[in-house]
Amino acid sequence: MPLDDSLSLLTKGYGWLPDRRRALGGRTVRARLAGMRAVALEGPDAVRFFYDEDHVRRSGALPEPVVGTLFGKGAVHTLDGHPHRVRKSMFVALLMGDGIGPLVERTTAAWDDAVTAWSQRRSIVLFEEAAEVLAGSVTRWAGIPVTDDEVPGLARDLLAMVDGFATGGPRHFRARRARGRREAWLADLVSAVREGRTTVPEGSAVNVVARHRDSDGELLDPRVAAVELINIIRPTVAISWFLAFSGHALIRWPEHRERLASGDPAFALAFAHEVRRFYPFAPFLGGKAPREIEWDGQRIPQGAMVLIDLYGQNHDPDLWDDPYVFRPERFLGTDIGAFELIPQGGGDPRAGHRCPGEDVTVTVLSALAVRLARLRFDVPEQDLSISLRRIPAKPASGVVLAVHGSD
Ligand code: HEM
Repeated sequence: MPLDDSLSLLTKGYGWLPDRRRALGGRTVRARLAGMRAVALEGPDAVRFFYDEDHVRRSGALPEPVVGTLFGKGAVHTLDGHPHRVRKSMFVALLMGDGIGPLVERTTAAWDDAVTAWSQRRSIVLFEEAAEVLAGSVTRWAGIPVTDDEVPGLARDLLAMVDGFATGGPRHFRARRARGRREAWLADLVSAVREGRTTVPEGSAVNVVARHRDSDGELLDPRVAAVELINIIRPTVAISWFLAFSGHALIRWPEHRERLASGDPAFALAFAHEVRRFYPFAPFLGGKAPREIEWDGQRIPQGAMVLIDLYGQNHDPDLWDDPYVFRPERFLGTDIGAFELIPQGGGDPRAGHRCPGEDVTVTVLSALAVRLARLRFDVPEQDLSISLRRIPAKPASGVVLAVHGSD
């Protein structure tokens, strides 16, 4: 076992754990990350094991550079047990019910408006334009006041928080600055709502987060409330990664375009699932063993990091035929289990840490992917390669399109 695998992770990115598994010929990989013992698991049974709080806890498990950029200090991601359940119920109520209909409507309307403007430009970068469409829509849906002029800067800040979590250097510090700025802005808004200096719509995300009481019966500290509001708007804007990947897929495999453009809802859904399965986004998740545990005949000592390999499992040939072939049809007429397709975590989002924004992601992505397929565009010369060494990965060009209109 190498002394420390942090360097392999940095140089191999998404391939690090799958490569190690192939080399070892087993499912479970022992490693050292940032000086800590780590055991990486993969497979549906492993996901079930990982999501049992008796085996894996999140508090104190995530490295500060990840919390300080991606999730924010005090975020739901870092809680366990009853405090997690109470905080999580706030997200579930906002994101897993009828409330997301208006978000999808706003987003598709904003996309349709944007297409007119795109057609008047020589070319657009799909990744950046999608982020602006999403940022304006989710922020207003959440009850956060923004002017049209503020949207591009906000979109850039929210993208930066995701882009900079797994790297050092300028991308990382851009992410920290973006987070600092946006937390201060939203903490002020939460205080203003509580003090009656600003009114926001009843039932909106700002209103619900400002009034939420944690398991101790207390309101959230304004900074933590801001962190949780960002945990709604940031990942919604991050759907632009999946839109850039959708653009990549339609350019590389244009045979899917006609069926997607037809608007057949089952195919649009299958396309969204295949984009989430096939393309690299969240590489793996981590927590800590609260006591000595055993998995796959291996002893995992108390305090060791336990990782679950999301990217690896989404490309496991035991679960997916031809995993490196992009084939949306694989999701037609099949039920998806809670522990197999795991780009946004596994298990029950109400009980565990699985992403509560999966309905939003799948609904928004399938609606916008259909619109993307209906765009009339040329593809200028560009670098569409996706490096698996870069976390988070994305097509190098961001997907440049010369848009002429929409069918
Ligand atoms: C958690 C991925 C979109 C809100 C997560 C987790 C992943 C993930 C991997 C961690 C699960 C775990 O720790 O077990 C993604 C991806 C998205 C996305 C790839 C696509 C862009 C969204 C959206 C929202 C959202 C649209 C909200 C509108 C959250 C929250 C958590 C979370 C609040 C923390 C849940 C918890 O710790 O209990 N997401 N997500 N995500 N996601 Fe998402």
